[in-house]
Parts: sequence; C-alpha cells; structure tokens
Amino acid sequence: MVDVPTFRKPDRYKASSYRSYNFKMPACYDACIWVKGWAPRWDRTIVCELLPEISSTRILDVGCATGRLLLRLAEAGAKKLSGVDLAPRILEVAAEKLARTGISVELRAADAEDFLPWDDESFDVVTLVGVLHHFFRPKDALGEVRRVLRSGGRLLIMDPCFFTPVRQILNAAFYVSPHDGDYHFHSARQAVRLLADVGFTCVRKHRAGFGAFFAVALKPSSDPRERLGGQGQSLPNSALHPTPAGGTASRRG
Ligand SMILES: C[S@@+](CC[C@H](N)C(=O)[O-])C[C@H]1O[C@@H](n2cnc3c(N)ncnc32)[C@H](O)[C@@H]1O
Repeated sequence: MVDVPTFRKPDRYKASSYRSYNFKMPACYDACIWVKGWAPRWDRTIVCELLPEISSTRILDVGCATGRLLLRLAEAGAKKLSGVDLAPRILEVAAEKLARTGISVELRAADAEDFLPWDDESFDVVTLVGVLHHFFRPKDALGEVRRVLRSGGRLLIMDPCFFTPVRQILNAAFYVSPHDGDYHFHSARQAVRLLADVGFTCVRKHRAGFGAFFAVALKPSSDPRERLGGQGQSLPNSALHPTPAGGTASRRG
C-alpha cells in the first residue's frame, strides 16, 4: 500500500486527486467513457498542433495519467517525451504501456502545483489535457510550467468547459465535495486571464469538440528575433537534468 504523501501545501482537493488516481483509476482509467469517447479527438488536436516539427520538440505532458497522449505523440513521431503525474501508481501503468511499445519516455511523480522536477527552460512544449480543473492553486502550477518552458515555448491546454450556469453548479458541488480530484472548471476566458496573470500570452483559443476549450499560450521570449518569428522553433536539444536531491520517483519506460 502506498501512503498518501505529505504535500507541501496540503488541501483536500489534491488528496482527492491523489486517492482517486493512485488507488482507483490505475485499474479503470483507460476504460472511462471520456477517455474512450472524448480524448481521442482532443489528442488529435494536440498532435496536429505539434506537427510537423514534432520529432525535434521536447514535450512535457503534465498530469499524464496512463500515458495515452504520450503514446499518441510518440506514434506521431515525437522522440523527446516526458510525463509527470501526482499519482505514482498511475505512472506505473503508463510506464508498462509505453515499455510494451518500446517507446522511451521519462516519467516522474510530482505535484505540479509545488515543483516540476526539471531545470528551467527544459521543454519546448508543455501539454495540460484535462488537468487544469484539478488544480486548487492553478497559478502555482502554471508558474511551474512557465519555469520549465523555454522562452518562446508553448503551453497547450485542453479542458472541459460548460455553459456558465452548469459550470457554476458543478464548481459549487465540487467545492463542497471534490469528485476524483475534479475541483474547479474554468471558462476559456477565465483560463486566458489565469495565463496572463502568470506571464503567458494566449495566442489562440477555440472550442474543441465535446465541450472542451483548447488554448495555445506562449511564454514570451526575451529575444526580439524569436518574438518576431519563433513560435514553432525548437532550440537545440539540451539535456534534461535529473531530479534534484530530495525530488521524486523517476521511471523509464
Ligand atoms: C482527468 S486526468 C487527465 C489525465 C490525462 N492528461 C489524460 O488526458 O487522460 C487528471 C490527471 O491529473 C493528475 N493531477 C491532478 N493534480 C495534479 C497535480 N497537482 N500535479 C500533477 N498531476 C496532477 C491526476 O493524478 C490525473 O492523472
């Protein structure tokens, strides 16, 4: 039995995510209705966004769960893939699945609201699919994402969005009683405001099928040449450094 860890800033919403994704979901997540029905469409949107430079792009999937998106990205030609999740046991499922296909992906367990165990500017792209609404402190998580992205790098967010009254009712219900870590759904406009608050520039947002929004945000570059034309550029591949001391579990699939 793996214990619920002591989180640096504990909250019951995170404990709800952890319990669900560490103990219940590893056995059943891939069979969930949203994973079978919704997710393939969302994955296609992400993959299309990253083509054609996908093979040279360093990608981190935050809240990667069983590694479904990582697998799709690898099938589309991505070679520099990393994933992180709060729940070590769901990462074991991802590691097994990815190992079976011979895909090499770096997987680490960590709380994105606390610390992403990579050096500054380690990635060209970070994906956040179905995870934003799990964060109790979304600005802390987005701040960590910003830190590990290179200047000019992209954050791709996909998250469910509902009509305002439905969203408000759901949020009120989940505030009282979080369900599988679902805590707070944001409208696309609220998400753009959050992104701006932590220093991202949202360059595009649109509806993305089955009640989701898709947003592309840039970490502004300090280099004016990159600001002009560098949206999809990849910097030379710099090595990903190992987890700092006292960090988190690391697996290779
Ligand atoms: C709804 S699932 C989405 C999983 C995956 N991105 C997908 O598309 O299937 C949410 C995931 O986010 C993870 N998660 C929730 N809070 C997190 C946090 N603070 N840090 C890292 N991962 C987190 C959960 O453990 C879970 O695996």
